Amino acid sequence: MLRLGVNIDHVATLRQARKTRYPNPMAAAALIEKAGANQITVHLREDRRHIQDSDVRELRKTVSTLLNLEMAATPEMVKIACDIKPDVVTLVPERRQEMTTEKGLDVLKNADPLGSAIQKLKSAGMDVSLFIEADLRQIEETVRLGADRIELHTGRYCDWVDKRDKKEIQNELQHLKTASQFALEKGLLVAAGHGLNYDNIEDCIRQVSEIEEYNIGHSIISRAIFVGLENAVTEMKEILETVGANNKENKEEALL
Ligand code: PXP
Repeated sequence: MLRLGVNIDHVATLRQARKTRYPNPMAAAALIEKAGANQITVHLREDRRHIQDSDVRELRKTVSTLLNLEMAATPEMVKIACDIKPDVVTLVPERRQEMTTEKGLDVLKNADPLGSAIQKLKSAGMDVSLFIEADLRQIEETVRLGADRIELHTGRYCDWVDKRDKKEIQNELQHLKTASQFALEKGLLVAAGHGLNYDNIEDCIRQVSEIEEYNIGHSIISRAIFVGLENAVTEMKEILETVGANNKENKEEALL
């Protein structure tokens, strides 16, 4: 069954906009888990623009599914992660000026700092994922450095969907599929995320059946304004379950 991780950074964005105590990310995480999500994801940024250190500490105590911490591979962040011990750490590139994580890590160019972070995090008992583009050389280097998982950046696919460019959409889906198949063969768990919403996710699930987990934030938190958080999560979970189940049936039929 496809797994859904919900990124709750934007609950904290709303709180930080007024420096109030609400909305509380821990309360949001509890509702999201109740609605069937498999994982809570947060990004502790160097500039602390949304999630705060204290949120990650509290979430570690309250999250009953899995806690996935996205962070840069800096000594400061590695120290925090080794202290708090989320279940999974997803290493991401970070630029102060960016609105969101614009692209994947360049694992080849940053092998030394990434390799050292992976080693420390794994020795402290966490699973480590690298957020990368759908590129086979990046995957090979990820394997060499000893990470357990990859998360494929789906931003480019989502941009082409917005531009309604069918040829480029197909191109991107093919890149995602080739990369996912390669990563699975290499023994990595394959997750994906960024820019996914209730409309564009279906084709990705249908065509890239190798992806095992989706991490989705902005679209779910936005939908929650209109239908409530639990419904927003349930609706996404239903898409993952129904479209994912069709994939499974098709695979089984093809084997008969
Ligand atoms: N996965 C990673 C690694 C991310 O950095 C983000 C954005 O914070 C997401 C998933 C979720 O992206 P979105 O908010 O666009 O759904």
